Amino acid sequence: MSDKLYHECHEVISQGRAILEDLQQWGFETVVALPTEEPISTVAQPHVDCLPSSSSKTLVELEAGLEDCRLCPLCEQCKNIVFGAGHPQARLVLVGEAPGREEDEKGYPFVGEAGKLLDKILLAMHLSRDEVYICNVLKCRPPNNRDPQPDEIAACEPFLKQQLALIQPELIITLGRFAAQELLKTKEPIGKLRGHWHEYEGIPLMPTFHPAYLLRNPSGKRPVWEDMKQVMQRLSGQ
Ligand code: URA
Repeated sequence: MSDKLYHECHEVISQGRAILEDLQQWGFETVVALPTEEPISTVAQPHVDCLPSSSSKTLVELEAGLEDCRLCPLCEQCKNIVFGAGHPQARLVLVGEAPGREEDEKGYPFVGEAGKLLDKILLAMHLSRDEVYICNVLKCRPPNNRDPQPDEIAACEPFLKQQLALIQPELIITLGRFAAQELLKTKEPIGKLRGHWHEYEGIPLMPTFHPAYLLRNPSGKRPVWEDMKQVMQRLSGQ
């Protein structure tokens, strides 16, 4: 297959998947038998020679340990590991899905279009990036921004869990279905999860729509704002 045809096919498949995901966000479960796409990877076998050290006492130490991570093949293709950024003792942690192209280039979470929208949401909540902590379920970019695969999520999970254990936030916001389903260990669609308080290891967790979804579906902004108002209320101790 020529490169051009390959990229065209990939674009069509990605658009189809985005439409199915949008439907899933709203709880249309029956149409969302998403094709389980094989990870596009040139690596036959993931290396399993690295685990986050549970002795990491700081985020800096945990991040340093991640540099040698070979737990899944994503590290072979990404330019930078996007560990996370923000206040190491933030009261609020936001967990997204995975780095995209711009995050991969810069090594920093949510710096693309979705990130700009996230900044606006934070601003409306009277919060700055320095006050909160932002990270992702996956620390390496999936090629062509495809969905994270279950084995990649499982491989990266110890890092996310330890990040949260070190920060010990008062509240967590998950952005999109992958982060909510991963931390809550559920398959419920995000359309059903959002707007209600859940708990991750005793920490109140509010799932909401992903900013990238809002870019495609501006009508989702209102429910997100309702979710954020609930978060603000809890942060202000009400
Ligand atoms: N989308 C995410 O889920 N995370 C990022 O860092 C950027 C876009």
